[in-house]
Amino acid sequence: MTSQAYLSELFSLEGRVAMVTGGSSGIGRAITGALARAGASVVVVARREAELAATVGELEAQGARAAWVGADLGTRDGVRAAAEGAVKAFGEPDILVNCAGINLRPPIGELGEDVWDTTMAVNLEAPHLLGQRFGPGMAERGFGRIIHITSQQAHRAFVQSGAYGVSKGALESLARSQAEAWSPYGVTCNTLVPGFVMTPLNTRLSSDPEKVAALAARTMIGRNGLAEDFAGAAVFLASRASAYVTGQSIFVDGGFSVH
Ligand SMILES: NC(=O)c1ccc[n+]([C@@H]2O[C@H](COP(=O)([O-])OP(=O)(O)OC[C@H]3O[C@@H](n4cnc5c(N)ncnc54)[C@H](OP(=O)(O)O)[C@@H]3O)[C@@H](O)[C@H]2O)c1
Repeated sequence: MTSQAYLSELFSLEGRVAMVTGGSSGIGRAITGALARAGASVVVVARREAELAATVGELEAQGARAAWVGADLGTRDGVRAAAEGAVKAFGEPDILVNCAGINLRPPIGELGEDVWDTTMAVNLEAPHLLGQRFGPGMAERGFGRIIHITSQQAHRAFVQSGAYGVSKGALESLARSQAEAWSPYGVTCNTLVPGFVMTPLNTRLSSDPEKVAALAARTMIGRNGLAEDFAGAAVFLASRASAYVTGQSIFVDGGFSVH
């Protein structure tokens, strides 16, 4: 067997269908590109159409199969529309990546009900509803991969975690509940845990060079994360190679969490 064939057997996503929420920006865009280049047909879901079209256009220009659905995951109707739109593109997904997320940042003492509700809807309820929609079908077909993107704030308070940290902590619990339900049928459910990654989500923090340097110094590797750092871990969790990895939180944070 050639090394190419061996790597293919472990990691190729050829013939798989993936749905990536929040796949038009930052970490989600890097994961979308990685899954598509590894062979999957990928449907990207977010609200802004120009970013969606640009993401898909870039992948199609490289010969990958990609499509997009514009939907607001902050409402139940939006989540349903996203799911049905995604299925129309390439059929039922084998891989679901819940990467769409918002961080509205008011400290818990100043938190209004609107911020709480929106945060929970996008960061927690949408991943749950998409799991309910697609998990049973994956289990019936005997293969599935559900990957959630959480945060170091699932594990520690950090610059006013507010509702955001709560939603991400619950998302890690959701992954374990889903893993318990569907792992016996070939559906693994895991989370990728970023530290501090330079993306549009972080514009406020990342535009302060002193804070950026201080955060980089807290990692072991000595730099902050880049969206591309998630490519390999996402392909691994989406592939056959990770068949015995489930219910886990995998930190992709340059050692931030253990320093
Ligand atoms: N960057 C970090 O340091 C960091 C650290 C820890 C965890 N994370 C997590 O990593 C994930 C990706 O973050 P990122 O930094 O890559 O952020 P980003 O660049 O701001 O991307 C967020 C994505 O989510 C989509 N989205 C947001 N609200 C949505 C909604 N209501 N409906 C549909 N799509 C929605 C956005 O598209 P539209 O705005 O067009 O809808 C965009 O595609 C998030 O879950 C975040 O919590 C990031």
